[in-house]
Amino acid sequence: MDTTPEPASPTVAAELASGELDLLGLLPGSSNYTFLARLGDAGTPVVYKPRRGESPLWDFPQGTLCQREAAAFVVCSALGWSYVPPTILRDGPHGVGMVQQYIEHDPRFHALNLTPEHDEELKQIAVFDLIVNNADRKGGHILRDASDRLWAIDHGVCFHVEPKLRTVLWDYIGEPVPMDSLAAVEALCDALENEVSSRIGELLPPEEVESLKRRAETILKSPVFPEPGPGRPYPWPPI
Ligand SMILES: Nc1ncnc2c1ncn2[C@@H]1O[C@H](COP(=O)(O)OP(=O)(O)O)[C@@H](O)[C@H]1O
Ligand SMILES: [Mg+2]
Repeated sequence: MDTTPEPASPTVAAELASGELDLLGLLPGSSNYTFLARLGDAGTPVVYKPRRGESPLWDFPQGTLCQREAAAFVVCSALGWSYVPPTILRDGPHGVGMVQQYIEHDPRFHALNLTPEHDEELKQIAVFDLIVNNADRKGGHILRDASDRLWAIDHGVCFHVEPKLRTVLWDYIGEPVPMDSLAAVEALCDALENEVSSRIGELLPPEEVESLKRRAETILKSPVFPEPGPGRPYPWPPI
């Protein structure tokens, strides 16, 4: 069964760029200021994380998390996957921030209690996390919507140049990266040589774009899910 979701609709991404944001309140469980909002006349539910509301971190430059979230969407789309909801960088009531499509989901489900039918999707998300060097893949950052489709959220601490993969998705160590994922990574590498590199270059510094390319190429050269690197391999809390 091909579980690869359709690439994210460009219409939704374009829609995010226009329209007023009407803030409804803060979402529970956020460490940064994460607002639930309605967008434009249609009232599309979105998440808005203003740069100004980002909590300081010792290892990521202040005020860059929203850009990393937008870059994660660009990378996921260039892989041909739509796990990351459409996400853009734009102005809002509290200044520039990331705006992302809100996904209706059942909060009882997360990466650690999904049924085995989701295994192929979780493997693809694990490949995505290797590429973006995700330092915070908590179980609760994978959402299951009403049509049983998985989404991946919260990519503020990705793209560091140093290895920082911190994830709950370690089930695949030593397993080959599936062929369809390798094709997706090849497509990403091509895109990073072409049109996608300028979009990413507006969001990440050049050294992080270089590391991103290197991580993608490493998967193609050594197509096996790796062991954890140095440092703490699990996020806290795990959900
Ligand atoms: N796109 C989204 N769709 C649905 N719920 C979301 C989305 N983004 C965030 N959330 C909800 O808000 C919570 C906090 O968001 P998160 O991205 O984890 O913020 P933080 O950067 O503060 O960790 C998430 O655990 C989730 O429940
Ligand atoms: Mg979070």
